[in-house]
Amino acid sequence: MHVLLVEDEQDQRELVANILEVNDIKVTQADSVESAIVSLKNLVKQNTLPDVIFSDWKLGTLTGISLLEYVRNNSLNIGFVVATAYGSVKHAIEAIEKGADDYLSKPFQSQELLLAISKANTAKSLREQNQSLEKQLTEQQNMVDLVGNAPCMQQVYERIKRVSNTNATVMITGESGTGKELAARALHQLSDRKNNSFIAINCGAIPESLAEAELFGAEKGAFTGAIAQKIGKIEAAHQGTLFLDEIGELPILLQAKLLRFLQEGVITRLGSNDEIQVDARVIAATHRDIPTQISKQEFREDLYYRLNVVPLRMPSLKERPEDIPKLILHFINKFEQQYGGQSAKLSAPTKKLLLDHDWPGNVRELSNKLERFVLLGDEQELIEDLTRQETNSTNFDTNMPQQNGEFNIPENGMNWDDFEKQVLQQALLKTKNNKTKAAKLLGMGYKQFLYRIEKFEL
Ligand SMILES: Nc1ncnc2c1ncn2[C@@H]1O[C@H](COP(=O)(O)OP(=O)(O)OP(=O)(O)O)[C@@H](O)[C@H]1O
Ligand SMILES: [Mg+2]
Repeated sequence: MHVLLVEDEQDQRELVANILEVNDIKVTQADSVESAIVSLKNLVKQNTLPDVIFSDWKLGTLTGISLLEYVRNNSLNIGFVVATAYGSVKHAIEAIEKGADDYLSKPFQSQELLLAISKANTAKSLREQNQSLEKQLTEQQNMVDLVGNAPCMQQVYERIKRVSNTNATVMITGESGTGKELAARALHQLSDRKNNSFIAINCGAIPESLAEAELFGAEKGAFTGAIAQKIGKIEAAHQGTLFLDEIGELPILLQAKLLRFLQEGVITRLGSNDEIQVDARVIAATHRDIPTQISKQEFREDLYYRLNVVPLRMPSLKERPEDIPKLILHFINKFEQQYGGQSAKLSAPTKKLLLDHDWPGNVRELSNKLERFVLLGDEQELIEDLTRQETNSTNFDTNMPQQNGEFNIPENGMNWDDFEKQVLQQALLKTKNNKTKAAKLLGMGYKQFLYRIEKFEL
């Protein structure tokens, strides 16, 4: 262990140094806060930080607290013990509050000194361990590429981590744009298969007539147009991961063949009788409700049970609005880097609009909107896009006064307050928060307008 000992009285300092050195502790001595900081700077350069600093409270005109602040402000992970004068509990409390690991009131026994130093050293090691754990976690998180730490996302990460390194089949469900494919890639990335291929098939995108050859491969001449041997997607995923996207769209005939592969781990290419062993981890995804499909006999129940060993549901963006600010930052950064240079800033009212939006297209919709914003730098366009969608969904747009100035109450009624609030909001957005112009836009006096926006706390 290495201790930096800071004490301005030479006799006292040498006494303590002696006790420590007798106990095999290396000691660097300093007689003031300033000289302690100089030694620390040198030690940082040599990459040999002390484990613990043992500092006297009173050091000339300064106190040990100044040194403690220097250490903590510079994020130097060093244990810290302060020696206080007999009976000055106030100093002890202050030291602990500022981040000292322990204090010792003078006079102390050598055993007490050694105990305090060893406790501070343990505290330092614990901090070190915590830091490296946190670093590992963020690294893992980064690799996974999924942004958001709402509780429902934590559960997703937890499950991904737990099952990634198994061969269990995972069935990912969730609305469109919720990150099902990202989750599948994360499962692959965090597994031992990460250096082998990740093969994704969109089951809804292959024409039924070609689907079998696409999945299982075909020998030359197996069907008209098969001019060469074709390796299927399943075979290509050997030793890697096979991602069956939109599994709900897989034709029923192929469902039986896929089931055979899942049960026996073998496939046969079209036009051949040879069985080929394939070791692939299977992940499936769908935005459809498979149980409903089963009841309509569009999906095989036995296949569903084979696939649904570990269900993983991706939450919709509406379920985790607290993640929207993080996602906004993430996408703006991402697209700024992608398209180079110009920085795009969103005003506070637009951010609010993004927060209040319904996000039927989930994260993909948010990503698309922000990509366009970064490309065009046109905040007004984004605002109009968002408000258009909102008013459409509440059916106001079509009923708003047109040229003839007539307004019709929707058949199924409406909520006056919502309506008024939206009109006020739109007026503010259209005029970039210029209240005079906004009031004029609505044919209203300024005071009357102010009164209304205060009523809705806009
Ligand atoms: N949690 C997230 N963090 C960052 N980006 C995300 C997140 N979820 C989704 N995305 C991004 O949103 C887009 C859609 O994600 P993905 O393709 O994984 O969704 P999906 O659920 O497969 O959608 P679909 O059902 O429409 O195929 C991608 O660009 C993806 O990078
Ligand atoms: Mg997808």
